[in-house]
Amino acid sequence: MKHLLSTQTLEKQDALLILDTAEKLSRISDGPIKKLPTLRGRTIVNLFYEDSTRTKISFEAAAKRLSADVLNFSAKGSSVSKGESLKDTALTLKAMGADAIVVRHPASGAAHLLANSGWIDANVVNAGDGTHEHPTQALLDAFTIRRQLREGSGDLSGVRVVIVGDVLHSRVARSNVWLLHTLGAKVTLVAPPTLIPNNLSGWPAQIDYNLDNAIEDADVVMMLRVQQERMQASYFPSIREYSRRYGLDISRVNKMHKTGIVMHPGPMNRGIEISSEIADGARSMIVQQVQNGVYVRMAVLYLLLGGATEEL
Ligand code: NCD
Repeated sequence: MKHLLSTQTLEKQDALLILDTAEKLSRISDGPIKKLPTLRGRTIVNLFYEDSTRTKISFEAAAKRLSADVLNFSAKGSSVSKGESLKDTALTLKAMGADAIVVRHPASGAAHLLANSGWIDANVVNAGDGTHEHPTQALLDAFTIRRQLREGSGDLSGVRVVIVGDVLHSRVARSNVWLLHTLGAKVTLVAPPTLIPNNLSGWPAQIDYNLDNAIEDADVVMMLRVQQERMQASYFPSIREYSRRYGLDISRVNKMHKTGIVMHPGPMNRGIEISSEIADGARSMIVQQVQNGVYVRMAVLYLLLGGATEEL
């Protein structure tokens, strides 16, 4: 694997290799010496054209735990705000000796463009491109589910996952649908009809407009943020109405399977898609997701930049 751009094209064996490597790295990271020398002397650039809190620091933490040098490049306050093109920025990063570029961009396809343009020879990791994909988020979600429900090994055959909310604007939902399907899980998407993409042909998922039905006996419920910044029109009558129909509260969680878990990629709109009681409750994996994100991103950087798993 040279790049990690999408989960749609990720082979099952590669996905499992990433998850297994993340398990090994998590055991090392939880030991007395957190840092591995593997990527010493390598340069990883975080190229973020869109705001981010957890994804950016997660990649930074992952790179530093592997002893890489990290350059953080934010579009705000850089020449990008003066209109510099992605190509010119890429050429600058090449000149700086970037070995890997972690890119987040508001345009769907930006990571593919960077990887396939021939402008650079660095490894490219897609950290979210528009409404298209966010593969490391899906991988950390799969890792979290596997650890919680499958003791950290094998695939996710038979796990019932319900993804709820603003599917239309969610790169997290897209990446999860593909990856969870590849790993054998059964995915149901739940949202108001206005927040389900028009063309779902080929998506390996079921659709249900009724959360109370869909959540019955679910193993995992994954809540999505209502992405108001990507909404130019009105997609539902009111926040209150949305919350009543599609918000996660205790009465809905009680319908899940008894070992069922609750997830959210963050940032959360507490009180809209999820109640605080649930976000902070016993079934919530939200903090673990953030923690697991570091292990999974370490695994991705490690594997892309040539680490061999036998050495771990
Ligand atoms: C998500 C994103 O940016 O795609 N957040 C994240 O990476 N943890 C989801 C969101 O913004 O709602």
